[in-house]
This record gives sequence, C-alpha cells and structure tokens, in this order.
Amino acid sequence: MPTPPSPIAFIDLKAQQARIRPQVEARFTAILDHGAYINGPEVRELEDALCDFTGCARALAVGNGTDALIIPMMALGLTAADAVFIPAFTYNATCSAAMISGGTPVFVDVRSSDFCMDPADLERRVAEARGRGLNPRMVVAVDLFGIPADYEALFAVAKAHGMVVLADAAQSFGCRWNGRYAGNIAEVTGTSFFPAKSLGCYGDGGAIMFRDGDLWEACEEVRWHGTDSAGRKESVRVGLNGRLDSIQCAIVTEKLKIFGHELKRRREIAALYNERLTGAFDAQAFALGAESGWGYYTVAIDGRDAVQARLKEDGVPTAIYYGQSLNTMKAFEHLNPDGGMPVAERLVQRVLSLPLHPYLTDEQANYVCDRFLAAVERRND
Ligand SMILES: Cc1ncc(COP(=O)(O)O)c(C=O)c1O
Repeated sequence: MPTPPSPIAFIDLKAQQARIRPQVEARFTAILDHGAYINGPEVRELEDALCDFTGCARALAVGNGTDALIIPMMALGLTAADAVFIPAFTYNATCSAAMISGGTPVFVDVRSSDFCMDPADLERRVAEARGRGLNPRMVVAVDLFGIPADYEALFAVAKAHGMVVLADAAQSFGCRWNGRYAGNIAEVTGTSFFPAKSLGCYGDGGAIMFRDGDLWEACEEVRWHGTDSAGRKESVRVGLNGRLDSIQCAIVTEKLKIFGHELKRRREIAALYNERLTGAFDAQAFALGAESGWGYYTVAIDGRDAVQARLKEDGVPTAIYYGQSLNTMKAFEHLNPDGGMPVAERLVQRVLSLPLHPYLTDEQANYVCDRFLAAVERRND
C-alpha cells in the first residue's frame, strides 16, 4: 500500500505554532504583566491590523464567527417580518445567526459552478418572500471554501431591493474581489478565527469588518451588552457579550504578520493541484477578478465516498464540507421551500476537500495528486 513521504495533516497547526511560538509566549507574558485580560491594548491593535491588511475602514474583534454575523444582524434590528437570504450550502452558523437575531431566513440555492449563492435564484426567492408578506432586508453572501461570492451580481440584486449585504468571510480571509480583500468588499463582513481557519486563534474568535464604518457604532454597542461606549452603564439597545479577549487578539495579530507568506504558499499548492488534477473533477470556478483565499481546496466528483475511502487507505486525509444542505437539517427544515434546493442537495453528495495548508511540502502535495488520480481511476472497481 502506498505511503506518504511524511505524514500528511489536513491542517497543520503544529508547524505554524513552531514558527510563531516565541512571539506568542512573549505576548502571554506581556498580558500577564499588564493584566488587562478584557479590552487590553491588544484588542485595538488587532482591529487596526485588520484594517491595514484588508483596507476596511473599521474592525471589531468579537467572540467567534457566529457572533460576527449575529451582531450586525442585531444592530440592524431585524424582526420576523424581515427576510434574510442565506445560501442553502454553507455552515449551519449562517442560518442560526439569522434566527437568533430575530430575522426570517430564506434559503437560496447555490450555483454548481462556484458553489456560492446563485444571484438568479436570489431574485426568485426575493419575489417569493414578498409574496409571503416578508420584507427583503439582508443578503448573507458566503464566500464558500475561500472563493468570493458573485458580489457584482449579488450587489445588483441587493440594491434593486434595498437590502444590506453581509459577507460571511469565515472561510475566505485573504480572498480578493476586484482588488479588494474580504472585509472591504461588502458593507459589513463577519469572519471567524476558529483555530482551523486560515487566520485563526488558539480558541474561539472572530471579527466584524466595515467597508465604510456606518454600522460600526451600533455593532460596537451590541458587542458590549448594548451599552453606550461613553459610560458602558446604560443599555441603549439589546446586546450581548461579544468581546474577544486580549490573549486571543494578540495571537491573531501575530498570525496576521505571517498571513501574507502563508497565503502565498496556499496559492502555490492550489496551483500545483490545479495543474495536476484539472479534468479529474469539477472544480470550484470563480469569476474573473476574483482570487480565492484558499481556505479549502474542494472538488466535486461522482463516486466521492469511494475516492475518499481510497485516499484514507493511502494516508491522505480529506473532509466533507458539507454532507447535508441546510434546508434538510432538522432545525431548519421548516424553512425548506417546495422543490427544495436541488443544486445544494446534489453538491453535498459530491464535494470533497483535499489537504491544503501552508506547511504542506511539494512532495506531499504531489503525493496527494498521485493518490487522488489513482483513486479517481479506480473509484468504480
Ligand atoms: C461559513 C461559516 N460561517 C460561520 C461560521 C461560524 O464561525 P465560528 O465557528 O467561529 O462561530 C463558520 C465556522 O466554521 C463558517 O464556516
């Protein structure tokens, strides 16, 4: 049985930790010394660094990627009469966030080409939602697996119906659309610093980024129990504890310093995969002017389960994101429209994510390609 040149990790956080450990330890010591565990100077430092990297006007560090969606939704004061359009093929947090914040999620199917929200289906769902007496209020554009959603088309639909576009960039930090980084594409963007994300912390974390700062103040209040920033005593709106602590902020700041190098390496591996594997699967296509952040390298393929089993035997870890579309999940199936979400429901049977992280060697990546091609060839045996 073939074996990898060295063990292959799906995501290698240990190699990254070895690279930044002295800096992280120095940060821990500094925080232990100053003792401002909440709202220490590291919070603002990270927020400024996120603005510098992405070009966004303001940023807020928050407790996790789900809060990064809930907080802007709460800041907009959604009610059950407000339709929040969500792609049916994404992580469940996107839909839960809309429900927690009081809006009514409306599923939109994705495109088989880029696996992201289908702007044509969005148009149809907006008309349907209006027919049900809902007020189209927000589009949550998920940059699935790192690929920017089709913002040009989504912005056009949103504008035509007076909707806010909230980008869910939990998987796409570092992606670009028309030269703008995620965080500076939509008016408001949420991202996640869950450890396995391309920019992660050592625990839970997330950030909200604002293209022009309009919603910033309301989100800043929601993040801190809805209190006014001057006194922090009176709740001026309903809020929650959405803060990110100083230690996690310092860790993300250190990781952001090496993020550019890591992204370059992700791109190199993706290019190697593209070169060697194109034609063996349906690739996740992206539009001209869009650059993936390569959160994941996800392919769509018939006989997916057989390919995955063979890769496992050969020491190649893979993952299925996602094996179920949201509209069929127990918590959300009451939102499933007649006819379901055909493209999403088919994709969940075909998607497979290959190992992709900045510490994968060319030798390992070539081994992944060799074994993938062999597995594809023998998937029907
Ligand atoms: C698309 C998407 N949205 C939201 C989230 C939620 O982020 P978190 O787990 O940090 O709350 C995730 C996390 O996996 C995600 O992939």
